[in-house]
Amino acid sequence: VWEVKHIFYLGDVIACLKKIPGNTVQCVVTSPPYWGLRDYGVDGQIGLEKTPAEFIEKMVEVFREVRRVLREDGTIWVNFGDSYCANGKGGRADFDPELEGVKSKKIPRGSGRWGGGNNEVEGLKPKDLCGIPWRFAFALQDDGWYLRSDIIWSKPNPMPESVTDRPTKAHEYLFLLTKSTKYYYDNEAIKEEQTESSRERSKYGWNGVTDDNSNGSRTGSSYKKTAESGDKMKTIPQNGKRNKRTVWEIATEGCPEAHFATFPTKLVEPCVLAGTSPKACSVCLAPWKRKLEPSENYAKMLGKGYHDHSNDLNQGMSQNKKMPRTFADYITVNWEPTCKCQGNDGSGKCIVLDPFGGSGTVTFVSSYLQRDSIYIDLNFKYMDIALQRNNYGMITPDEFEIIRS
Ligand SMILES: C[S@@+](CC[C@H](N)C(=O)[O-])C[C@H]1O[C@@H](n2cnc3c(N)ncnc32)[C@H](O)[C@@H]1O
Repeated sequence: VWEVKHIFYLGDVIACLKKIPGNTVQCVVTSPPYWGLRDYGVDGQIGLEKTPAEFIEKMVEVFREVRRVLREDGTIWVNFGDSYCANGKGGRADFDPELEGVKSKKIPRGSGRWGGGNNEVEGLKPKDLCGIPWRFAFALQDDGWYLRSDIIWSKPNPMPESVTDRPTKAHEYLFLLTKSTKYYYDNEAIKEEQTESSRERSKYGWNGVTDDNSNGSRTGSSYKKTAESGDKMKTIPQNGKRNKRTVWEIATEGCPEAHFATFPTKLVEPCVLAGTSPKACSVCLAPWKRKLEPSENYAKMLGKGYHDHSNDLNQGMSQNKKMPRTFADYITVNWEPTCKCQGNDGSGKCIVLDPFGGSGTVTFVSSYLQRDSIYIDLNFKYMDIALQRNNYGMITPDEFEIIRS
């Protein structure tokens, strides 16, 4: 279906997206240009719109085209940082999370884009947090996307700020949005380690009763009571892993080939791992899914009449009031197709797209996770960096193709 492993499109995002056949991409991971931060001196660049509303309108237009190329069971993961309106003294934003260097210019003071000087932006006052990430998320939701999660990218090494009248900004957002209510999401691939205290607690098991007298904490008497009463649930299985949570602590990473901050590979990795499968249909690229079986301990629990949660995945709360689904413990025994194509031998590759590719972080991560990828960027200097970076990686020249729009 797809001959080239990694494709690089040079050109405007919408024009390039139009060249990609519909329903092909499994997962999009991207950080769009921020509004009003930099002028890269390239015609057609997004981010120079006069108001947040105009910028968001443009984003909705771009993501409509993204929705066309995305498979019905696909996911998109969009990273956005927020910024502040100018301080009213003609200054610009006091938080600049975007790319540094590479011949970009900071937008001049009082240009109107940041409400600096006399040119205030309608609806925003000096010192206001612009709220672009949530404006974006709600706009996409209004346009038909399913907003499934906001994720906080918490930075242990945030950019220093000289402010004294608010906390130092140390996070950005990542939004998970989908085209349909049912989609491919491999939660097993990105499970995280449980805390020591949870592991300790799980030795006692849980008797299914929320202890209303324990000041909201279930670690109190409910658990202990279970253990003391010798309840069979003491054997609750625990593999030491829990479903990934919505706060991801990841340090910002420099890219040696680029002179600006790129998004960290550690931020992209979980999105690609959860959003794509290592195996896909060789005919239609539908991802193969895990065949899960309850672990030995969990099987014992089920034998005692508890409910199997394997069909609950992606469906929110457990039906079983006796046992929270966090205790459900599975092992992967095989992979199975999710389509009915004849001749599907699972040798297809899921495609990951970054429509604002920059230094090529998503291509880089996709290549080492052995997924195929599509990169788009308007700026040939960035594409050059992305190509160099990926040549140094695992992509060999016959594995990529450059298409100019
Ligand atoms: C925040 S950066 C992406 C950084 C990237 N995540 C990385 O790790 O390097 C946004 C990118 O969008 C690109 N861009 C801006 N307007 C565009 C347009 N109209 N079409 C395609 N790309 C565009 C810029 O050139 C810039 O590389």
